[in-house]
Amino acid sequence: MSETAPQKRLYIKTYGCQMNVYDSERMADVLAPLGYGMTDEPAEADLVVLNTCHIREKATEKVYSELGQLKRLKQDRPGGMTIAVAGCVAQAEGEEIMRRQPAVDLVVGPQAYHQLPELIARAHRARGERLAADFAPEEKFDALSTERRPSGVSAFLTVQEGCDKFCTFCVVPYTRGGEWSRPVEAIEAEARALAAKGVREVTLLGQNVNAYAGEGGLAGLVRRLARIEGLDRIRYTTSHPRDMDEALIAAHGEVEALMPYLHLPVQAGSDKILKAMNRAHTAESYLRLIERIRAARPDIAISGDFIVGFPGERDSDFEATLQLIREVGYASAFSFKYSRRPGTPAAAMPGQVAEAVKDERLQRLQALIDEQQQAFNAAQAGRTLPVLFEKTGRHAGQLVGKSPYLQAVHVTAPDRMLGQIVPVKIDSAARNSLAGVLELETA
Ligand code: 5AD
Ligand code: SF4
Repeated sequence: MSETAPQKRLYIKTYGCQMNVYDSERMADVLAPLGYGMTDEPAEADLVVLNTCHIREKATEKVYSELGQLKRLKQDRPGGMTIAVAGCVAQAEGEEIMRRQPAVDLVVGPQAYHQLPELIARAHRARGERLAADFAPEEKFDALSTERRPSGVSAFLTVQEGCDKFCTFCVVPYTRGGEWSRPVEAIEAEARALAAKGVREVTLLGQNVNAYAGEGGLAGLVRRLARIEGLDRIRYTTSHPRDMDEALIAAHGEVEALMPYLHLPVQAGSDKILKAMNRAHTAESYLRLIERIRAARPDIAISGDFIVGFPGERDSDFEATLQLIREVGYASAFSFKYSRRPGTPAAAMPGQVAEAVKDERLQRLQALIDEQQQAFNAAQAGRTLPVLFEKTGRHAGQLVGKSPYLQAVHVTAPDRMLGQIVPVKIDSAARNSLAGVLELETA
């Protein structure tokens, strides 16, 4: 690869899930050979990519307001600016984006990122611009797809995309398409390359990651990656209760590198609502599943997603959700007000819930989750946990790392410990993080 300084600037803004974070990194990788270097300033960018999220209405609307601001920046920039919209809004509303915001030059769905260089070239041509002379053939980018520049010691790795579950509230099966798994060999090669560049932790990504259908399933993949020298921590997200098989549960008890943290969304605790959501599990079957997982790995941190105010949700249904939360005891959770997404079955269901009711339920649910999260964090005080130091902290001499349970941990430690996994004695816990001291100092 050329060592010359990048001549063009790329600004990427990422919305939504970790899959988008991964995709944004890969887009930057694919564009680097074309001479694009990253900038944090949209006003300085020759190319702006908005990697969008379509999951809730708010996320989608943010994209349009950002595009309005970019249009003004583009007008002020003598050298011009190429504006690309990527991600799930691009997939779902491509034509509408072009119609609502003519400043957009190109729209590219999640399945087409490898075509980005070509699409950009076409957009430039359409404006009468000349192509960069160093334009490389597409095969080169195919080959480049294993070439990653990880930015730290923890990296995302997409192993599965798409969803066949068709939860009635969700746009993902329409925007990301059907379930598709990368071959084991490709994933292993990427993981080895990451480890060789100093990555110690990978988080395997998929909309339904535990539906991974490559050889050996997700459990087989985890066991295989756990053998890679230097890769000490493996995580995966997001999982569906339906695909949590025995082999994966067993792996949680047996594979040391598999971290004791599981994001396993349940969405609601009322069987009537779960059925209307097409979730294919009941509150009881979810609770039994959690029991089996905890039997394999007693200290596992459970996290989840919840939706309040799904059509037809009555007070008693909502109470059932709170009850389920009390029974599980979550280490953390994401919770959302139901957002009506055009084209999904739930959007047309009767019994849409008033906004004020959703607000009130969300507040109550979040208060309960907060309490559980605090309790989970507080329970670590006094323990010694292995912490992977990832970055420097806000205060001088401080490093920030991750506990096995995905908690942020603040410690006074020398910079040379960055990238290392070090025993830390936890001495205090807040809502979103822990603090501790190096175990060697307490000895
Ligand atoms: N409204 C609110 N929340 C939603 N989610 C998905 N679709 C919707 C919607 N229409 C939530 C679910 C999912 C998470 C990624 O986003 O809880 O697990
Ligand atoms: Fe959406 Fe349900 Fe698929 Fe998750 S499992 S992506 S919530 S349809």
